[in-house]
Amino acid sequence: THVVAQPCFGCKYTDCVVVCPVECFYEGEKMLYIHPEECIDCEACVPECPVEAIFHEDNVPDEWSEYTQMNADEAEKCEVITEKKEPLADE
Ligand code: F3S
Repeated sequence: THVVAQPCFGCKYTDCVVVCPVECFYEGEKMLYIHPEECIDCEACVPECPVEAIFHEDNVPDEWSEYTQMNADEAEKCEVITEKKEPLADE
């Protein structure tokens, strides 16, 4: 699976959700999460994120390692997001 990490926090550019073929992004208040059982590792979202927040689970930087479990836990609690919206960050 892929994981949304710290750079997404407070940004939520949502460019990633538009290209996801399996609609596996879920929207938290401050960031998005990927559902690990839905992500097919197509990597389409990785280059779309302006802040490079998305990593393969094997390549999550050590400082953000807790985000892997956080994505799994939070995706379960959040609503799916499939359309781009206004980001939290100024562009
Ligand atoms: Fe977040 Fe990047 Fe998507 S900032 S919402 S992971 S495009």
